[in-house]
Amino acid sequence: MEYTAKSNKIETLVSRCLVVAVYAGKKAKLGASAALLDRQADGAIKALVSKGDINGDPGTTLMMYDPPGVRAERILLVGLGKQSEVDATVLRKAAAAVARVAEAASLRSIDIALFDRRHGRLDTRRMVRHVVEAVDAALYRYEETKSGRAKPSHLKNAAVLVERAELAAARKGVREGEATASGVSLARELGNLPGNICTPSYLARKARAMQKDLPIKTRVLSEEDMKKLKMGSLLSVSRGSREPAKLIVMEYRGGDKGDAPVVLVGKGLTFDAGGISIKPAAAMDEMKFDMCGGASVFGALQAVAELELPINVVGVVPSSENLPDGAANKPGDIVTSMAGKTIEILNTDAEGRLILCDALTYVARFKPDVVVDMATLTGACVIALGNHASGLFSNDDKLAAELLEAGDEAGDRAWRLPMWDDYTRQLKSNFADLANIGGRNAGAVTAACFLQEFAKDYRWAHLDIAGTAWNSGGDKGATGRPVPLLMEFLINRAG
Ligand code: BES
Ligand code: MN
Ligand code: ZN
Repeated sequence: MEYTAKSNKIETLVSRCLVVAVYAGKKAKLGASAALLDRQADGAIKALVSKGDINGDPGTTLMMYDPPGVRAERILLVGLGKQSEVDATVLRKAAAAVARVAEAASLRSIDIALFDRRHGRLDTRRMVRHVVEAVDAALYRYEETKSGRAKPSHLKNAAVLVERAELAAARKGVREGEATASGVSLARELGNLPGNICTPSYLARKARAMQKDLPIKTRVLSEEDMKKLKMGSLLSVSRGSREPAKLIVMEYRGGDKGDAPVVLVGKGLTFDAGGISIKPAAAMDEMKFDMCGGASVFGALQAVAELELPINVVGVVPSSENLPDGAANKPGDIVTSMAGKTIEILNTDAEGRLILCDALTYVARFKPDVVVDMATLTGACVIALGNHASGLFSNDDKLAAELLEAGDEAGDRAWRLPMWDDYTRQLKSNFADLANIGGRNAGAVTAACFLQEFAKDYRWAHLDIAGTAWNSGGDKGATGRPVPLLMEFLINRAG
């Protein structure tokens, strides 16, 4: 798929399909590009819209064939909702709808002229980024483990049309959008792979392969290495499985030598059966997605390296399975973490925090500016926020604000939850320094409080992506979230 930015006049543009906006109102209203074409077409577009087949709600579409007076073969009207309320989410929804219509019509190319107004706080660069990312995501198909030959999409070219003065910004948006979109696709692909293929060793191989094409240095720590580092908590989880754990470290150094890196840590649980505290059978297959935090680290690192951002980023993915076995953790077992803290494992299904805590201790050696971890950590977070926002937790208000804003701008929202000491007290154990669960109440918060105990030496944030990393039901599959949030955050940091 190729994305380009151009500034041709739309009235005279030769196009298979020219995409323009309509806004919702009492009656649908033509956007600037649509109005321009309408004048050229002697009011034919307005006449069509006034028949009421499109109301302008976000993502509604109406195809018009052989419009009079213009060179385009088709005009695709797409709703952007109320003009004053256009935001990242609306734009992405509309662009995804456009891609689906174009694909269903077997179109090879489309020209998108949706940028006729500055929509609220969205600048051209971001608008273009959203469109590229959303079109690309709509065309993604999982094929890897299907025996039929993969069918490539019909759509090969998408051009965004902007005013000449905005061309440079649009080109930047295309580049950032493409890189982010590939990062999202990578995260989705890794997430969708089944647990018998995507093992910790598979992820390690994938990370090693990434350094061939990209300015990334990969190091993989074996269980032997982890033993030397005294990662007793991480290793206790992997003991219940035949697949050896891996601690994957990917370093991208695009900034100055002395620049403290952003460290991204992602939970890489390639299958979570719960261990001895085994999960119920229903939907257990979805626990192959328990490595989506790790997958987002892969996706973000690939995108950052592709864009050659002038910052330093280190990605760390602790990866293991969580299975019941004779050697598995048992409720009541006590393990000693790399930090020296002892942990009473009251529920072996709260394993994410057990592997993450040692990774969080490990990353202090990178003298990070900030550490952000991503984890499909708790069902409780899904109860709290549903599938719309990731849970955000942080020991630093500025970092939290930066991430929240990045999520808003990327259409990949997060919502902050509190971490008061009252919650940490729920983790008290009679037999160890900490228990690995804090009871049913506020489960997402107590999980974050557990992690915080191991993240005291740097500015840290945690994204609980249990509700956002994948879809269930007919639409089952990884979403690639929160790669868009992370990319917005990292691109902003790169200045
Ligand atoms: N990977 C799960 C969290 C999860 C569950 C994400 C369902 C999405 C959907 C995690 O390892 C887990 O099992 N957490 C437990 C914690 C509990 C035992 C305190 C949970 O959420 O039930
Ligand atoms: Mn679990
Ligand atoms: Zn898990």
